[in-house]
Amino acid sequence: MPRRSRDPAETLAAELRDGHILVVCGSGGVGKTTAAAALGLRASLQGRRVLVCTIDPSRRLATSLGLAQLSGKPRALDLRRFDVARGGALFAMTLDTKSTFDALVERHAPNEAAKKRILENRFYREISAALAGSHEYMAMEKLLDLSADERFDLVVLDTPPTRHALDFLEAPDRLMSFLDTSILRFFLKPYFFAGRLTIKVATRAGAIALKLVDRFLGLDFLRDLSEFFLAFEAMYDGFKERAGKVHALLRDERSAFLLVASPAPAVLGEALYFHRRLEEKGMPLVGVVVNRMHPDPAAHPRAANGKPVRVDSELAGHLMRIVRDQQAVARAEAKSVDRLEVDTGERPLLVPEFEADIHDLRDLKAVGDAIFGALPASGRSRRVSS
Ligand SMILES: Nc1ncnc2c1ncn2[C@@H]1O[C@H](COP(=O)(O)OP(=O)(O)OP(=O)(O)O)[C@@H](O)[C@H]1O
Ligand SMILES: [Mg+2]
Repeated sequence: MPRRSRDPAETLAAELRDGHILVVCGSGGVGKTTAAAALGLRASLQGRRVLVCTIDPSRRLATSLGLAQLSGKPRALDLRRFDVARGGALFAMTLDTKSTFDALVERHAPNEAAKKRILENRFYREISAALAGSHEYMAMEKLLDLSADERFDLVVLDTPPTRHALDFLEAPDRLMSFLDTSILRFFLKPYFFAGRLTIKVATRAGAIALKLVDRFLGLDFLRDLSEFFLAFEAMYDGFKERAGKVHALLRDERSAFLLVASPAPAVLGEALYFHRRLEEKGMPLVGVVVNRMHPDPAAHPRAANGKPVRVDSELAGHLMRIVRDQQAVARAEAKSVDRLEVDTGERPLLVPEFEADIHDLRDLKAVGDAIFGALPASGRSRRVSS
């Protein structure tokens, strides 16, 4: 993470200028994907070669990022309509959990036969997309690959909407412990080590468990399951080594986390929790963005174009009520954000609520402008302003 400035926008700008990995996290639906794409665009306009790895972008955003068809490979975006500083380029891709998992098996399987056995295993096929923590784990796994890809100076990683905040930080550990401690694996252990497809167990509990599994799931399923764990046994070391590398990468000095929230009280509560967990885990936080803030209409510089607005008194009454309502919302949100600042020690960067969904590059650029101010007219300098 870059040296911290007193100005939070400058700290984040420095990360876009010098950082290597930026992980965007936050609760579901707050604007993580939008922020990841907007910041990636901003950095590329300022001359960096950026890859934004999104997870499940809205259809329209996917279209504007050139990802209308699901694409697990980086695609270059056409930035010709923008003033791009020399060298700047933007790539985008979506993370496809299943194919990442397959690639992982291909990498670590000890031989062709084992690889085939796992990839074609019915149990593997069922669970590889849904395995506890696999989605999050795959995001981390992919990040490791992308961090070594020399085409990109900066990789911005969007994170999945996890049910429990920050699940993905623990994903490598959780996947490992799922494989290590799975109750079925425990019962079936004698059976794996025998390595034969005969049902033989050493313990009484194992025998009972087997009977139950057989009754409810059938022996075919059991066979697939056993084979799966047997084949996985050989890949443990590879998995463990990669999990260790992910752990180190996330704590590297050129890696940083950005926390995205919205001003809704429940989301701010979760943001506090995220903040605490990032600190506990020693993850470098580069800033907090509060997205979808409602502006105070009275504070808006163009509220009346500087001129008195003439309206009849009934209309004026209605308008005043609307203005007051909006003001109340804006003030409550501002208060919540102040509290977040006190509780986290981070001054949040604010992004206003846009009139409609954010779905094209122009909108994404506007999000960057809201955080850092407009880019200088000629972007063809290598300087990054805040
Ligand atoms: N400031 C904003 N003003 C208006 N609409 C916004 C704003 N920020 C995001 N949106 C819209 O809100 C929706 C959710 O945003 P986004 O997909 O970025 O959230 P997310 O945190 O990635 O969600 P998920 O947790 O489901 O992945 C999108 O349709 C997006 O266009
Ligand atoms: Mg998203």
